[in-house]
Amino acid sequence: GDRLTILGLESSCDDTAAAVVQQGAGGADILSSVVLGQGDLHAAFGGVVPEIAARAHAEKLDLAVRRALEDAGLALGEMDAVAVTAGPGLIGGVLAGVMLAKGLAAGAGLPLVGVNHLAAHALTPRLTDGLAYPYLMLLVSGGHCQLLEVRGPEDFTRLGGTIDDAPGEAFDKVARLLGLPQPGGPAVEREAAAGDPARVPLPRPLLDKPGCAMSFSGLKTAVLRQRDRRVAAQGGLTRGDRADLCAAFQAAVAEVLAEKTRRALAESGMPALAVAGGVAANATIRAALQRVAAEAGAAWVAPPLELCTDNAAIVAYAGAELYRAGRRDGPELAARPRWPL
Ligand code: KG4
Ligand code: ZN
Repeated sequence: GDRLTILGLESSCDDTAAAVVQQGAGGADILSSVVLGQGDLHAAFGGVVPEIAARAHAEKLDLAVRRALEDAGLALGEMDAVAVTAGPGLIGGVLAGVMLAKGLAAGAGLPLVGVNHLAAHALTPRLTDGLAYPYLMLLVSGGHCQLLEVRGPEDFTRLGGTIDDAPGEAFDKVARLLGLPQPGGPAVEREAAAGDPARVPLPRPLLDKPGCAMSFSGLKTAVLRQRDRRVAAQGGLTRGDRADLCAAFQAAVAEVLAEKTRRALAESGMPALAVAGGVAANATIRAALQRVAAEAGAAWVAPPLELCTDNAAIVAYAGAELYRAGRRDGPELAARPRWPL
């Protein structure tokens, strides 16, 4: 029929994932989505260790695939294609995914589709809300920060992004320097709820510069200086200080993201604004972006959190769109640690 059933694989960072998605004229359905996280393996190191990640992917991908097919109640032979994240990301993990996908495709005589991980994030609002092209996408995660005009599954224009740290990375670093647990984003947001952003002056990096370039590493350093000033004056940080520092940092990130997104919407004239990536889970940031969309008269789409963060359903969905566009990859499909959109 006109419906495609796609198996998707994702292993580019620290989540080992597999999913089955059905896509057709009437929309898309997620038949299964299995995400095996590795947080516990990396916790002691304060960040993702590439060697450990690669090994865990190699060990767990097969299990993720078997579970995804089992949950969907389908056999590999009932798929129309196998889609896999072929980059960008940590090379060991991407290689593990690409090699397994090649084996599955060859073994079952299925076509193979290599997917760009950023494209998979960028197409998420089409999977969840059937959002029509074109739209503006703000992709904000631990590793990425980009404003993209999305016109098709392979048609992206980058309007701006960070010139240093991604916002999630900044949240994680701020959490670390305030003694909060990882991942830092949710921890900082929880603390911020009791704080007053007005009590800590922080810069708004690059806000005075035209265009959509962003910077977050100076903001993290400014939080460090404000922390040290309080520690020097009082011999330590009170609970209230910590809450104020978190609230001020979160407010600064939200204001920078909102203002740069406002400019990108005005410049591009896009009729809709969508977000993806872990940082899109932040309620203050979401609210600021939703306001920007409303003021520009643009539609607003914020997919559910579990599809904003890394998973394989978005890879399977992107694979379906690429398959329809005629893309077929063979045994020569390469793993690409760097792969700009
Ligand atoms: O998209 P994601 O799950 O993984 C990748 O980076 O690919 O994003 C994780 C990032 C982490 O840096 C985490 O601290 C951040 O998203 N994050 C948040 C929140 N929840 C997760 N940042 C701010 N506020 C949150 N509520
Ligand atoms: Zn991601």
